[in-house]
Amino acid sequence: MEYENLIVEINEGIVLVTLNRPKSLNAINAAMMEELRFLFLEDLTHKPAIRGVIITGAGNKAFAAGADITEFLQFNRDNIEPFIRKGHITFNAIEQFHKPVIAAIDGYALGGGCELTLACHLRIATTNSQFSQPEVKLGIIPGYGGTQRLVQLIGKGKALEFLMTGDMIPAQTALELGLINYLVNPGDEIKKAVELIDKIQTRAPLAITSIIETVNAFFDKSQDGFEMEIKGFCDLSATDDFKEGSAAFLEKRKAKFVGK
Ligand code: COA
Repeated sequence: MEYENLIVEINEGIVLVTLNRPKSLNAINAAMMEELRFLFLEDLTHKPAIRGVIITGAGNKAFAAGADITEFLQFNRDNIEPFIRKGHITFNAIEQFHKPVIAAIDGYALGGGCELTLACHLRIATTNSQFSQPEVKLGIIPGYGGTQRLVQLIGKGKALEFLMTGDMIPAQTALELGLINYLVNPGDEIKKAVELIDKIQTRAPLAITSIIETVNAFFDKSQDGFEMEIKGFCDLSATDDFKEGSAAFLEKRKAKFVGK
């Protein structure tokens, strides 16, 4: 697939995905959603040497200002469900991706744009950034998992306030709420994301994938996260990396993990 609404660059195993509709503040239209789906569920699954993914927005105004409102008028009760389900499939794939996915936010992260950051494993935002789920001002609710992931991240009380008011909150407040992991100066967001991917890469790769799966299981009612943790621990104890990690500690040296 040719990407028309994303720029996808791979450099030393780090995939930099730029949402690229700056004239519309990177609003997520159906075509961009399909490109994101293809990227995470097809394209990247064929590229084994990936270390992590960073998602950012083009221009200096927005990460993404939401779903593309110009597409809303074509929808009605009979035709909208596949559109919404595609968003869920795509954002679930991002959340379940086996390597760290980090949102590098500079500017507005609104509606579906905010939900996209919530589906990422970690969020870094600049001091210029603002967050909102303004759907109630349009007569709808978040449709890409925002009602669920926001509660997971900031708790029910704060999530309800954020969702029911539709207020815009600055990045400093987002940091205090636990909505973002790091607040950085504009221009430093990608650097910080690379730094985190570099650090995570020094840890055992199979353990990182297991952490992602097991933490996600806590929020998945069809899974027993405790059982998954027991299985994950036992499976990892059979890996070369477990032997290497323990030996390196005892020999007072840095572990060299191979992902086996
Ligand atoms: N969908 C489609 N187009 C959008 C958009 C969206 N979600 N958000 C912004 N745009 C477009 C604007 O229509 C405008 O296009 P134009 O230049 O052709 O008129 C362009 O992006 C720039 O936005 P503008 O509103 O002029 O910038 P601003 O700095 O005055 O305001 C915002 C910025 C983010 C506050 C304002 O654009 C906004 O409220 N956007 C909608 C946010 C929203 O409700 N998102 C949730 C959707 S579910």
